[in-house]
Amino acid sequence: QLKVGLVGWRGMVGSVLMQRMVEENDFANITPIFFSTSNAGGDAPTFEGIKHTEASAKLKDAHDIEALSNCDVIITCQGGDYTTAVHGPLRDSGWTGYWVDAASSLRMEDNSVIVLDPVNRSVIDSALQNGTKDFIGGNCTVSLMLMAIGELFNRGWVEWVSAMTYQAASGSGANNMRELISGMGMLRDAVADELADPASAILAIDKKIAETQRSGDFPTQYFGVPLAGSLIPYIDSQLENKQSREEWKGGVETNKILNNEGDSIIPIDGLCVRVGSMRCHAQGLTIKLKKDIPLEEIEAALKNSGNQWLDLVEDDKEATMQRLTPVAVTGTLTVALGRLRKLNMGPEYLGAFTVGDQLLWGAAEPLRRMLNIIQQ
Ligand code: HSE
Repeated sequence: QLKVGLVGWRGMVGSVLMQRMVEENDFANITPIFFSTSNAGGDAPTFEGIKHTEASAKLKDAHDIEALSNCDVIITCQGGDYTTAVHGPLRDSGWTGYWVDAASSLRMEDNSVIVLDPVNRSVIDSALQNGTKDFIGGNCTVSLMLMAIGELFNRGWVEWVSAMTYQAASGSGANNMRELISGMGMLRDAVADELADPASAILAIDKKIAETQRSGDFPTQYFGVPLAGSLIPYIDSQLENKQSREEWKGGVETNKILNNEGDSIIPIDGLCVRVGSMRCHAQGLTIKLKKDIPLEEIEAALKNSGNQWLDLVEDDKEATMQRLTPVAVTGTLTVALGRLRKLNMGPEYLGAFTVGDQLLWGAAEPLRRMLNIIQQ
């Protein structure tokens, strides 16, 4: 059994990872060693399926290089600062185990591979054969886009993609989700009396809502500006070329996942926007095809791709409303893809909309699947 060090298992992504590992009985086949940045020496958690030995019953210090180097595999959801602080010294100490990471710090390194095995299993397999040891989960938006339309890339049909995103609060973290909900509650409370009176004037309600959002009391500590009842068309830091870092990742990470280099690089760009959904990222896609491929052929390719998680939603209003929303998809491994139709710009322009849970396929799921691939 592999000794698997788990770091950052208590945070939001880590908790989703633990849930998924319990559901899939992953703990039965490994010796889990739990690390902590704050509570070393405390009791290790006992998720279902875990049989602790004396050595694994206590939390280890997540900065203890010797304890870490005792592991065959380390899976971390602790975040980029931790990765930056620990990965280098751990490798310098001579450790040759597998590092599986949710953070972005190592994603674009030459000796790492971005893991999304339903889309790039062959890239992962050849990296394993070539001795690659750093396997990093992709950006959530990128992974969810590829879980939806990866087959179109694999068929070589795509000339470029514009992805306009509608990203959930969870992508910024747990505190941001709380801030969103607090803001929603504050808005409702501000007009509770007027809402109770069907005869009250909607423009008076609207005015009060705007005043509440703009007041100094409105919760904005984490997002910086109000999100509830609004949106924020900027995610992550600003780069010199005027892309946001999130938008930049869309292009570079997609091409790295698909192993595209040089002339085979596919332009991918768009605007990334934070909206008031909880944990499902949505994306409106414009896909420029290399040639006019009939819609039926595209749908058949997606249906027959072997992607069991894809819900191909027929382009019909009722089906779209029932299945292609964050509320329909949240908490599931289903990635919904719909509104597929040729756009008026011409027969090579395909429109699509996709929704996926950014904590599952967008973060935790590729990591636990990578652990299983390492064990094969
Ligand atoms: N950067 C993403 C977001 C989160 O802010 O939504 C995960 O990659």
